[in-house]
Amino acid sequence: MGQPTRYRKSDGSRVSGGSSDNKPPTRLVTGGRRKEWTGAVVNPPIWRASTHLYDNVANLRAAKRSNEDGRFFYGRRGSPTQWALAEALTEMEPGACGTMLFPSGVAAIACALLAVLTPGDVLLMTDSSYDPTRSYADAFLKKWGVETRYYDPLVGAGIADLICEKTRAIMMESPGSLTFEVQDVPAICKIAKEREITTLLDNTWAAAHFFRGIEQGVDIAILAGTKYIVGHSDVMLGSVTTHDKYWARVRRTAQQLGQVVSPDDAYLALRGLRTLDVRLRQHEAGGLKVARWLAEQPRVARVLHPALPDCPGHDIWQRDFSGAAGLFSFVMDGGGEEAVAALIDDLALFGIGYSWGGYESLALPVDPTPDRTATSWDAEGPVIRLNIGLEDPDDLIADLAKGLERYEKAACRK
Ligand SMILES: Cc1ncc(COP(=O)(O)O)c(C=O)c1O
Repeated sequence: MGQPTRYRKSDGSRVSGGSSDNKPPTRLVTGGRRKEWTGAVVNPPIWRASTHLYDNVANLRAAKRSNEDGRFFYGRRGSPTQWALAEALTEMEPGACGTMLFPSGVAAIACALLAVLTPGDVLLMTDSSYDPTRSYADAFLKKWGVETRYYDPLVGAGIADLICEKTRAIMMESPGSLTFEVQDVPAICKIAKEREITTLLDNTWAAAHFFRGIEQGVDIAILAGTKYIVGHSDVMLGSVTTHDKYWARVRRTAQQLGQVVSPDDAYLALRGLRTLDVRLRQHEAGGLKVARWLAEQPRVARVLHPALPDCPGHDIWQRDFSGAAGLFSFVMDGGGEEAVAALIDDLALFGIGYSWGGYESLALPVDPTPDRTATSWDAEGPVIRLNIGLEDPDDLIADLAKGLERYEKAACRK
């Protein structure tokens, strides 16, 4: 759907300036709030529309010729509600050219990869990738003639040794959303640039707020807006924000694929975005308190939280990130599936379900083993992932303490 943020005319010139000189929390508040879209109120209305009407045939023809974003054309190109969201997302990424919106994070990843790859290419993808990203590469891209080779998420500058003549793109996810290895994104991007290879980053954990991909050298930054951008577990959304060089390609591919986000969903995402900074800071504080407590429990072997020293890539997190989200995993010392169920099933404050980034806490048993090919997953016991919501962390800790007692009993019964 054509909803770029820095609106450009067909000759590439900017229609509006941005507010990228302001600090990130300010940009979250001001981004996309153009008077021409909001009128006399604070937020853009929900423009529900398929047909956009023209005054006359000359205007209709002129709109087709100019092919501009941020202009009424047809429903699939969005309306001010979607344009405002896309513009706000671009404002979050200094150096970015524009943002396309998608009906889910997976749709955004699929389109971005499709836009930069052609049959015969080799794609390098992190072994810690979100499993549907992996399946898309292993099934769809493979059928389409693209070979995917997986790399160790801790490879850093060693990525140079994995590049061959046919390598066209590197797909990163940092940190990995199950095992939380933090990648050396700047080092990988530097090498990729020297070799003219496109870099893509699934930046959902940091939500473009605690880590700004484009600024760090990434060509294409992807978010599952479903998580922290929306923040309330009620909308599916994806976005692709690109550097100048890739904007036309990504925009064209998304339009050819007919991608569109409803104005209602765009409105909710925009509302979520305005409070992203305060929510993320609260998720960070709660997450750290729970993670540090877990690290002291005898049954817990390791806590995989980028801000804690046990997490692979912790030093890179310290160097590159300005904060930590509320999603992390912990590895149990012994025990098994039955004990995991005993811990999770009776938690009072944690839901059991996929996704994360919402205001409510979630607990999920995870098994990274089947999704590893370049590396292997060896752990002391089962892994549990927590989404720490906005509850008081002391209540979450009390709930988890009872869960750990249940784990202990179940593990000892075996
Ligand atoms: C890291 C990561 N990327 C992408 C996605 C996909 O987002 P969506 O569920 O909106 O398709 C998810 C979903 O859980 C995720 O965890």
